[in-house]
Amino acid sequence: MGYDPVKFSAPAIVILTGAGISAESGLATFRDSGGLWEKHRVEDVATPEAFGRNPELVQRFYNKRRRRLGEVSPNAAHRALVELENRWPGPLLLITQNVDDLHARAGSQNIVPMHGELLKARCLACGAVSTWEEDILPASHCRRCGQPGQLRPHIVWFGEMPLELDRIYTALEGCSLFIAIGTSGTVYPAAGFVEAVPRQAHTLEINLEISDVGSCFKERRQGAATERVPELVGELLK
Ligand code: OAD
Repeated sequence: MGYDPVKFSAPAIVILTGAGISAESGLATFRDSGGLWEKHRVEDVATPEAFGRNPELVQRFYNKRRRRLGEVSPNAAHRALVELENRWPGPLLLITQNVDDLHARAGSQNIVPMHGELLKARCLACGAVSTWEEDILPASHCRRCGQPGQLRPHIVWFGEMPLELDRIYTALEGCSLFIAIGTSGTVYPAAGFVEAVPRQAHTLEINLEISDVGSCFKERRQGAATERVPELVGELLK
């Protein structure tokens, strides 16, 4: 069944994106073959314990990913979501699990980066979160309190609480259309968002393959994000 916007009097859209939307920009996903978790163990680079044990290794992992952002650009899927946000007459919230800045660079405004942002650093001494475009080094100083050696990537690691969950669940509970794009449906709470929307809401998954929670969606569209997302946006704005 397709989505018919005419059915909804106050249509609110919530979109959840994952690494698959940035894959065609040249950023590796996590779980596909050749993905980040094939080359690195989560326990070595993406937990608070790993950072406690070996901060240099963890910083190197994120420094490399941060540098890579300078070599990639938003793709047609990111751009289509901007067009949807600009032209859709109802509210639209874009929740992303991605820590890249491609949605923001494409021009999306209403974004919740629930797993943090590569281009921000957080100070363990004073808690300040600041824009950080260069490497985080052992000697890097916090721009607010001036302490050296206290900065960590502003990334939600395994075992930590995703950001802005109140805002996310409020939007999910009030939406008429929920769209998940390019996410494997393996990491909670994001994988469970499809079950937090009202029963009458339409739910649609766009992914190369059916995700782990694909059966929870009313509609599934398989294929590359750069093809399926502009297609869908064209239908919604028709
Ligand atoms: P995954 O790597 O788990 O899944 C990416 C999904 O995108 C897969 O299901 C692919 O089939 C699909 N995909 C790949 N290329 C695509 C394309 N061109 N078009 C459409 N779909 C495509 O990435 P996430 O689901 O985002 O968390 O991973 C969720 C979280 O797990 C990440 O935010 C990260 C990770 O561990 C943290 O680091 C906290």
